[in-house]
Amino acid sequence: MPSVYLQTFGCQMNAADSNGLAHQAWSLGCSFTETPETADILIVNTCAIREKAETRVYGRLGQLKSLKRPESKLLVTGCLAEKDRAVMRSKAPWVDALLGPREYGAFKALLADWGVPTDLPPRDTPLQMPSSETLDGGADALEYSHLRSLVSITRGCEKFCTYCIVPYTRGPLESIGPEEIESQVRREVRCGAKEITLLGQNVNSYLYEGLNFADLLRRVGSIEGLERLTFLTSHPHDFNREVVDALAEVQNVAPRLHLPIQSASNEVLQAMGRLYTVEEYLEKIAYFRERLPGWALTTDIICGFPTETEHDFEATLELVRRGTFEYAFIFAYSPRSGTPAATMTPQVEPQERLRRLQAVNSAQLDSSRRFHERFIGETVRVLSSGPSKKDAAKMAGKTGHNVTVVWPRDERTLHQAFVDVAIDQAHSWGLIGQVA
Ligand code: 5AD
Ligand code: SF4
Repeated sequence: MPSVYLQTFGCQMNAADSNGLAHQAWSLGCSFTETPETADILIVNTCAIREKAETRVYGRLGQLKSLKRPESKLLVTGCLAEKDRAVMRSKAPWVDALLGPREYGAFKALLADWGVPTDLPPRDTPLQMPSSETLDGGADALEYSHLRSLVSITRGCEKFCTYCIVPYTRGPLESIGPEEIESQVRREVRCGAKEITLLGQNVNSYLYEGLNFADLLRRVGSIEGLERLTFLTSHPHDFNREVVDALAEVQNVAPRLHLPIQSASNEVLQAMGRLYTVEEYLEKIAYFRERLPGWALTTDIICGFPTETEHDFEATLELVRRGTFEYAFIFAYSPRSGTPAATMTPQVEPQERLRRLQAVNSAQLDSSRRFHERFIGETVRVLSSGPSKKDAAKMAGKTGHNVTVVWPRDERTLHQAFVDVAIDQAHSWGLIGQVA
C-alpha cells in the first residue's frame, strides 16, 4: 500500500482539511511517513493568506522536488492551489496535481488514478499518523495529538474584507448540518478528544435551517464527555449578545473569545470593508466583559493597511496599550493580487508597516505579561500537549484561557490529559509552574 507524506501550512481550517484528507487516504489503506524521500504520494496543504506564507510554500515545494523519488506523486492542496492554479505549472512544474479547498471530494478519484486501489473494503481502524508530539514512540506516540480536535461547522466566507484572499480561494459560505457536526464531535470524544474547536472563517454567520450559532453552541455544549469547547473565528459584525448569552450558559465552554478587530480607526475599518465601527466593537466587548468576567479576549490586527495614517496607527496602538486584549496576532499588511486593497492608494511602505507592527507587538507583549501575572499563586488546569518541543525534560500545555504553561516532567502525571499546575512565574509568552 502506498505511503503518504502530508505537510500542512496555514490556519486551523487547513489543519482540519488535512485531517479529512488523511482519513480518506487511511480508509483506503495508505500509511503515513514523515520522510518525503520514502513516500509514494506527497501532499502539501498550502496557505495564501499573506505573501510570507506563499514564499514558504514555494520554498518547500523546491526542496521536495529534489527530495522526492522521481516516480512519486506530488499533490498541492489548499488556498495556494486555488489561487495559483494558472501559474503553478510554470512556477513549480514538478507538481503533479492541484486540488483547491472546494475540490476534496475528488481526492479519492485522484488516488485511484495514481494506482491506489479503491475497491477494497474500507479500513475502519483508527487513523495513525506519525506525530512530532511523540513521547517515547510506540503506544504513547499518539496520545497527545488526540486530545484536541478541530470540527468544521462552516466552509468558505462571503464577507469579502478588502485585504482578504479567503473568499476567492474557499468560496461562498456554507453551513454544515448540526447532526453531522454533533456526530463528528461525538466520534472525536470517543477517540479521546478533550477539547473541540468549532471552526469556520466566521462562525457567527452559521445558519442551518433556522438554527444559528448560539443554538449550535448549546447543542454541542451538552454532548457528554466533552470537557472543553471553543470556537474560531468570530466576526465583530455578526457577533452579538445572543452568542454571549449562550456562552454564559454552556458549562464546558473555554473562557476565551477570539474577535479580530484589525484596526482601531473607523476610516481604516471602512476601507477594509469590515462593517463595524470601533465604537460598535467596544460596545460588544463591554457586554462580553460584563457577562463573562475573567475571560480572555484575543484579536487579530493588521498594521500598515493602505491609507492607514500615523494617526490611525496611533489609535490602534493606544487601544492595545490600554490592555484591551489578552493576546493579539499582529500582521503587517500583505497585498494579495485580485483583492481590492492591493490597488488602493496610498500603500504604506513595507518598512513602515513593519515599524508599526513592531510597536503594536511590543505593547501587546506588555499587556499579555500583565494578564499572565494574575495567575501567579493560582493553580490552573492545563490540557497537556506533551513534552515541550524545546526541552523534553519539561511538559507543556494550555489552560482554558489558552495560556501556555510549562512545568517539569513528572512520571505521575505524564499520561494525564489534564494536569493541575501551581503557577510561580509569568512571562509574556505564558506561565511556569509545578505540578500541584
Ligand atoms: N495581510 C495581512 N494580514 C492579513 N490577514 C488576512 N489577510 C491579510 C493580508 N492580506 C490577517 C487578518 C485575519 C488573519 C487570519 O490574517 O488579521 O484576521
Ligand atoms: Fe477574510 Fe474577512 Fe472572511 Fe475573515 S471575515 S476570512 S478576514 S473575508
